[in-house]
Amino acid sequence: MSKQLPAKVDMEKIVSLCRRRGFIFPSSEIYGGLSSCWDYGPLGVELKRNIKQAWWQAVVHERDDVVGLDASILMHPQVWVASGHLEGFTDPLVECKSCHLRWRVDDLKDNKCPSCGGELTEPRLFNLMFKTFMGPIEDSASVVYLRPETAQGMFVNFENVVNTTRKRLPFGIAQIGKAFRNEITTGNFIFRSREFEQMEIEFFVKSGTDKEWFDYWVKERLNWYINLGIKKDNLRLRQHMKKELAHYALDCYDIEYLFPMGWAELEGIANRGDFDLVQHAKYSGKSLEYFDDETKEHYVPYVIEPSAGVDRSALAVLCDAYDEELDNGEIRVLLHLHPTLAPIKVAVLPLSRRGPLVQVAKQIYADLRQCWIVQYDDAQ
Ligand code: GAP
Repeated sequence: MSKQLPAKVDMEKIVSLCRRRGFIFPSSEIYGGLSSCWDYGPLGVELKRNIKQAWWQAVVHERDDVVGLDASILMHPQVWVASGHLEGFTDPLVECKSCHLRWRVDDLKDNKCPSCGGELTEPRLFNLMFKTFMGPIEDSASVVYLRPETAQGMFVNFENVVNTTRKRLPFGIAQIGKAFRNEITTGNFIFRSREFEQMEIEFFVKSGTDKEWFDYWVKERLNWYINLGIKKDNLRLRQHMKKELAHYALDCYDIEYLFPMGWAELEGIANRGDFDLVQHAKYSGKSLEYFDDETKEHYVPYVIEPSAGVDRSALAVLCDAYDEELDNGEIRVLLHLHPTLAPIKVAVLPLSRRGPLVQVAKQIYADLRQCWIVQYDDAQ
């Protein structure tokens, strides 16, 4: 009989398990890897798809007041002027005068290089957006950016969605997609990478009802993680202090998870007020006012934004599910994954390779795989 060991999960064990079992590999590994970029292997890609599917099911398919969108990653450069990202999406960066490593000022405990203790340069602002060029000429007129958040695709399509779906306020737009940030300090495996995926909702409401909807979404999103089996004790809410708030936010709560390196943000729920629609109306010259046919008023809606990371959710799921047990004197690692998220749902394991049993097992396998991901193994 196996005996449970107290599971002590640290990041090294998670990284090693992911590598060994084909969940996550370093990007371009045969060339030595690419800093803070990761590839999801055969089991990892299924886990990630299941997380995205569970989110889409909960926030789009099971609701009447949210519709989906899949906007392009490259957007008109004016989007980032209007959103404030070109000007304000910066981190203060310092460089060590001895070892030349670069650090984010907010990550420093004192004014010394954390690696060699050397003297640091004065901070300068570093924009986190990745730049590229559209078309064959590489000049300032052809600069475009890889989106640093999926949110803006939903704001610039607000009018399209209102006109084509006839949705009335309050309603939301949901999107899952890649985002890119040229982070200065990365690390903690897939927690902070330079290419990652977000699952975001922009929920449009009438001002005055925003606080009520903000509280609603904080609760709703916390429950989503609990319903997927994440232990309640490993989750907490943290309200942002005024000085931490992003340039667009009136209020924000983080849902934090107790990762191996400590409590850290899993998802942010922000009250963005009317900042984004007002800015896009100003820069595009198009009115983004909503006409309320009940009250006959024109107004710019407020936005509540639950913004989650797919990769951080995958990391939280793996850390939460990790366990060890003694098996004939050896430590066996196992994952207690929620059935909705488990990459493999059913295993067909015939005890022999002979005769009619194999035929029946193969038929069961063929039938089951039409509904689930099933593994067939007659080797053991
Ligand atoms: N639209 C709002 C927004 O992007 P954010 O707090 O910067 O807000 C939302 O990001 C979520 O995206 C985070 O809670 C996190 O889960 C994920 N995220 C942000 N930066 C990330 C990074 N460098 N690597 C992995 N996930 C990241």
